[in-house]
Amino acid sequence: MKKYKLAIIGFGNVGQGLIKIIRDKNLLIQKTFGVELSIVAICDIYNGSLYNPDGLDPQILLSDFDMYGDLKSTAAVVKGWNAIETIDNSGADILVELAFTDLKSGEPALSHVKHALNNGMHVSMTNKGPVALHFPELKKLACENGVEIGIEGTVMSGTPAIALGSEMLLAAGITKIQGILNGTTNYILGEMSAGADYNDALTKAQELGYAEADPTGDVEGYDAAAKVVILGNLFMDLSLTLNDIYREGISQITKKDIVNAHNNNKYWKLIGTVKKTNDGFIASVKPEMISNEHPLASITGATNAITYSTELLGDITLIGPGAGRIETGYAVIEDILSIHKNRP
Ligand code: HSE
Repeated sequence: MKKYKLAIIGFGNVGQGLIKIIRDKNLLIQKTFGVELSIVAICDIYNGSLYNPDGLDPQILLSDFDMYGDLKSTAAVVKGWNAIETIDNSGADILVELAFTDLKSGEPALSHVKHALNNGMHVSMTNKGPVALHFPELKKLACENGVEIGIEGTVMSGTPAIALGSEMLLAAGITKIQGILNGTTNYILGEMSAGADYNDALTKAQELGYAEADPTGDVEGYDAAAKVVILGNLFMDLSLTLNDIYREGISQITKKDIVNAHNNNKYWKLIGTVKKTNDGFIASVKPEMISNEHPLASITGATNAITYSTELLGDITLIGPGAGRIETGYAVIEDILSIHKNRP
């Protein structure tokens, strides 16, 4: 049995989802993969920071959070470390970076991840900022330090869009990637089609744990644009930045637009695209009206879909959850299993 000690930065939606999965599936993971997960540290600037070298009990973490609204009174060997102290002193094998996303600087997650890689820790991150802005640098740092960096949760939560692209499709020659890459906006558009008001639908998406800490990132298309950058750079040998993506969000779409679309058997969807052209690339995120016969018309709620167009296999489409606490928490489990496979 290989035991991995985890230090988790961020106890928000995804952190709580991950801890539930560890509570409920640790035995299954042990039996199936010979991997045991022990949470030795949690660090959250709002909810408190805890360290126990023998492992923090997931059930106690979740019930204390339910009862008190934070982890400040939860028993631990050391309390109050900041993120860097947690990385330096927890003795964890894997840093799980789940703090909020800043798409401008990638901070503070970027510094945490670099510090962990330089300290010889593997990293699993769901945070899009550092990956969209600095992935080649982070990957190089991981290689130099003989560790792995997992980013499955940055695109389509636990639906393995990154693994499919990087492990299976790269050699098939990916020429275009297109899809519904943001769960919050797809959920809002669906609710509005069913008659809901925009603000009510957004509030529900926040309650369900789909939206970013600042939902402007979702509704104005920045989150989907970051995913287009990540995918284009990973799989199409591009060096995209957010400024290269033509971006329009959904905040200007009115109920009237939605009704008009319905009357013509059409649906609004926020579509992300990156495509190679003779003189470079086209990359965009924008709302598009699609007919109800189009395969993407049936993608509802926080579900996402991605189509990889390849030279050798034609189109391959993957459909699955694009957001959510458990769904994104599971991406971390996928990263850890991949770390285990690559560096047993
Ligand atoms: N806010 C994001 C979404 C979370 O709604 O898709 C997953 O990246």
